[in-house]
Amino acid sequence: MKIKNKTIVVTGGGNGIGRELVLALLKDGARVAAVDISEKGLQETQNLAGELSKNLSSHVVDIIDKPAVISLPEKVVAIHGQVDGLINNAGIIQPFVKINDLEYETIERVMNVNF
Ligand SMILES: NC(=O)c1ccc[n+]([C@@H]2O[C@H](COP(=O)([O-])OP(=O)(O)OC[C@H]3O[C@@H](n4cnc5c(N)ncnc54)[C@H](O)[C@@H]3O)[C@@H](O)[C@H]2O)c1
Repeated sequence: MKIKNKTIVVTGGGNGIGRELVLALLKDGARVAAVDISEKGLQETQNLAGELSKNLSSHVVDIIDKPAVISLPEKVVAIHGQVDGLINNAGIIQPFVKINDLEYETIERVMNVNF
């Protein structure tokens, strides 16, 4: 995939696989908009990016917050000029308990975030 000078949005960029994706994309010459619910996590990704953080923007967004998601493209374009791709990596797992013991609120959050 040719990603040099492309702008890629990565959800869940504040930890784990998402953070590694952000750092790998930056190393390969992409501009990246990292999205996460965790400001602290995004700050850590910025720190790890070092000099390449000039090509990285951070956006604190809960991806189930529809108005925040709808307003995100405009914010990314204002910073990077374009959006070329999205890696929707953010996801959560439910507690490992029997399905009958899961609260509806937990089930709904897992479904909303992951789908
Ligand atoms: N790690 C694994 O073994 C594994 C296996 C299969 C699938 N996955 C999937 O890969 C993805 C990344 O996994 P990971 O292990 O890096 O997870 P992780 O928990 O380390 O990181 C997920 C990131 O997503 C963010 N996030 C969670 N909910 C969010 C929301 N509502 N809005 C915005 N950001 C949110 C978290 O703050 C976190 O920074 C997930 O979708 C996960 O389900 C992981």
